[in-house]
Amino acid sequence: MVINVDVEFLARDAARAARRGDLVIVIDVLRCSSTIVTALANGAKAIIPVKTLKEARRERLNKPDYILAGERGGLKPRGFDLGNSPLEYTSERISGKVIVLTTTSGTRALIYSRGARWILVGSLLNAEAVARAAYSIARSEDIGVTIVQSGTNGRFSLEDFICAGAIVSKLPEGNIKLSDSAQASLLAFRYAKNNLRAILMESAHSRRLIDLGFSRDIEFSCQMDYFRVVPIYDGNVIVRGDFRAGLEGT
Ligand code: MLT
Repeated sequence: MVINVDVEFLARDAARAARRGDLVIVIDVLRCSSTIVTALANGAKAIIPVKTLKEARRERLNKPDYILAGERGGLKPRGFDLGNSPLEYTSERISGKVIVLTTTSGTRALIYSRGARWILVGSLLNAEAVARAAYSIARSEDIGVTIVQSGTNGRFSLEDFICAGAIVSKLPEGNIKLSDSAQASLLAFRYAKNNLRAILMESAHSRRLIDLGFSRDIEFSCQMDYFRVVPIYDGNVIVRGDFRAGLEGT
């Protein structure tokens, strides 16, 4: 059996991948998916992604112990507990907590993915773990895999493209068939992999984050395979997936 592997470039294209019946891996290296992976690795109980600030505030109304988190324009919205920096999500702050998260592109891509049978969250931080989990699910269910880049404000983003290639590079060779976009992302990753940090620092979104004082977030998010956690989204909440196939540890 051959597994088709595709890469979509924008958040809204997640809906097309869901219609194809593919397993979807949502990525937003800077910074939403890196933040989700870090939060779950550091003990968050669950993450509820929502589209708007209003929805986020409403979600917390009767749940004062929920953590309100996210960004607009890269910055923590007024009245929120946490921004969108993975470095804020320490176990002291978030262990055992439910986090309501709204970001400009990443949470949108997740919401557009609803309807897919399987939605995983990927980043450079968990590239190998998410690739292995996706491969084993796709193989057992005989479905394709689409990596959905969230992009930046509706535009293609370099860091997500390279991350897509990193995930493709971790899929077992042989019985997978790459689309042109998946093949291109793999070529980009192979070119960038020995100089990941410097190349990612040059992306448009990185430059914006550096201007806002978040360069440490970029450095953190570039660490490949730092965590083994695989977040899984059921259309309502994101929790740690329990994929046993060699995925022990955080
Ligand atoms: C987003 O979802 O648009 C990003 O994560 C933005 C950011 O860097 O905070």
